[in-house]
Amino acid sequence: MKKTIKTITIIRLIQIFALAILVVIITIGLGYRAFFQSVMEKEAFTVSSAIKAGLTSHMKAGIMDRRDYFLDEIKELEDIKNIQIIHTNNRDFKPAKNILEVLKTKKEFFEWDDINGELKATMPYIANSKGTLNCLSCHDAQDGDVIGVIEMTIDINASQELVMSYGYIFIAILCLLSFIILANLSGLINRYISKPLSKVIDHGQKAYGSYGDINNVEYESKELEIISNNISSFSKDILLKNKEISQHNLTLQDLNEEIENTLKDTMMAMGEIEEIRSEETRHHTERVSKLSALFAAAYGLSEDDIKLIALASPMHDIGKIAIGDDILKKPGKLTTDEYNIMKTHAKLGYNVLKHSKRKALRAAAEIAYTHHEKWDGTGYPRKLKGFDIPIFGRIVAIVDVLDALLCKRVYKEAWSHDRVKALLKEERGKHFEEKLVDIALEQFDTYAGLVKKLS
Ligand SMILES: [Fe+2]
Ligand SMILES: [Fe+2]
Repeated sequence: MKKTIKTITIIRLIQIFALAILVVIITIGLGYRAFFQSVMEKEAFTVSSAIKAGLTSHMKAGIMDRRDYFLDEIKELEDIKNIQIIHTNNRDFKPAKNILEVLKTKKEFFEWDDINGELKATMPYIANSKGTLNCLSCHDAQDGDVIGVIEMTIDINASQELVMSYGYIFIAILCLLSFIILANLSGLINRYISKPLSKVIDHGQKAYGSYGDINNVEYESKELEIISNNISSFSKDILLKNKEISQHNLTLQDLNEEIENTLKDTMMAMGEIEEIRSEETRHHTERVSKLSALFAAAYGLSEDDIKLIALASPMHDIGKIAIGDDILKKPGKLTTDEYNIMKTHAKLGYNVLKHSKRKALRAAAEIAYTHHEKWDGTGYPRKLKGFDIPIFGRIVAIVDVLDALLCKRVYKEAWSHDRVKALLKEERGKHFEEKLVDIALEQFDTYAGLVKKLS
């Protein structure tokens, strides 16, 4: 899961602060330690200077035999754990490491023992023949020789604890400051980034819906103002494009409608050409189209199929174009041979249309081929039976007969409604599918009314 801006920023800042605090502690710690050591070493200098002065004054007063009183008092000083005065120009003397260092450098030597909290200072006593006291008069030495050392151990625990306590206070203040900065920053991120960011999308959607701009007054930062302005102009661009697309769509819709109507008129005209030539009742094709659509709707076909059958059904007899006038317009009854020729119009119609890739023409081909098939398999040209006959063919079969019976033709009067109904019942499950006959009987008045209106 992704982290929020706030979490990312705060984690990064905590890392930076932790590193910064560590660096500050190390730097200040080192400085503190150097300062602390210099103070303690100064104390060692002071004490050793006091001892030297005390011993010198004892020497001058000729009371060196009483110097231990003085040294005992010095040892009682706070922090002084031990003081030793060592003569180094004694030939039998075997100096320790610290004294050797002092003899070599003629300078003081300090050893820090942090574990035991001690500073061991070894301070040189240098021979001097000048001034009021000549060391060389008593010591077998040259000017500048180290004739002795003052070795003292100073307790640094108390001073160290004092320094550490200030250190802890300092770290606590640093942590508190970091916490205050982080807490403030969290509020700032919420106010200036997180909340405005979540708002700007919402405002963008509302602005898009209302065709307006985002009100950027409430965004306090420059960045958010720029973002909201960008969203506003982006939304305007989209709206403009949408408008253009809608206009294109309308044009396309008009064009599509034009093409559909042209196709419809053309197919209807082709049906009518055949209708006029075979001297059928006027407007037969138009009625077949309308009735087929009504049957398709009652049968439960889809909207697309209803439109398709209305478009394609007027061409059901298009194959009759290839039938000669002698048969097509013969006033009397056809001979068996003539009737057989007449029956070829189904296949002929199919052949004319079958190569088309257009949906409407393919549907017209199917209707031409199957509108003389019968439900019981006794129709033509293929003697298809039941559901092997496509639904469009089954519908046009009943519609074609229904219209022929309800209309007057040159060779017959229009049948009475009762007689038509009786025939439909008679042919239920024979010529026509049962469900279609039921629909025809149920809607008989509507269908008959339509036929009359369009005759
Ligand atoms: Fe036909
Ligand atoms: Fe017909």
